[in-house]
Amino acid sequence: MGIIIKTEKQIGLIRESCRLLAIVHQELEEFIRPGISTKEIDIKGDTCIRKLGGIPNFLHYNGYPASICVSVNDEVVHGIPNKHRILEEGDIVSLDAGMIYQGYHSDEARTHGVGKISAEAQKLINVTRESFFAGLKMAKAGNHLFDISNAIAAYVKPYGYGIVRELVGHGVGTKLHEDPQIPNFAQTRRGPKLRPGMTLAVEPMINMGRADVEWLDDNWTVVTEDGSWSAHYENTILITEGEPEILTRC
Ligand code: MF3
Ligand code: CO
Repeated sequence: MGIIIKTEKQIGLIRESCRLLAIVHQELEEFIRPGISTKEIDIKGDTCIRKLGGIPNFLHYNGYPASICVSVNDEVVHGIPNKHRILEEGDIVSLDAGMIYQGYHSDEARTHGVGKISAEAQKLINVTRESFFAGLKMAKAGNHLFDISNAIAAYVKPYGYGIVRELVGHGVGTKLHEDPQIPNFAQTRRGPKLRPGMTLAVEPMINMGRADVEWLDDNWTVVTEDGSWSAHYENTILITEGEPEILTRC
């Protein structure tokens, strides 16, 4: 398929989709507290996306049954919201949400602490976020795609955390998942050249323990094999002539 370079008009629409999605994430962050169910988060997010004029793009994607992916503790990504799954003080919860606005997708994920969390868990969340920004520094026209991957991997390495390999970042546009795939682990090649007008979802998924993951019987929920906790941090970004632009922010 190849990597699609977006026109100014397309970039404008993706930017708006992303800006609105960032508002959804802000509302969800404020909503997180001990005692709520993961289903309540899904309902809140779905309502918010629609109120802003968007359509949840995860709902029915390959049969995924909800609008927000809610993944708790050792769940890495794609947790299915459930009214019986209640958040407890000390948990960490990863929220992955996306929307379509006037035909254009956006994609963003954050991991939040529920109430007071351990220093260890906070460190995992922080390092995961920081690894995104290490990757972002390399996201410049003229650099190559895997410079982003290698920067993320190099940032995480000294912490001894596991970098998930089975799931990767991706291009974003009229489809949720476009070329290229963007690994978060070290690559030997440099990959395609980055060019202005590329819109990319960069999304490190980092485990406190080993990198290996497995799928639950629901065929969606990805969990760590060793039961260690996992964090996720994702933004949709735009490659420009100069500094990259984080589109998923408000
Ligand atoms: N947000 C995920 C990604 O970054 C996609 C979720 S797909 C769903 O690629 F089906 F689980 F919604
Ligand atoms: Co994504």
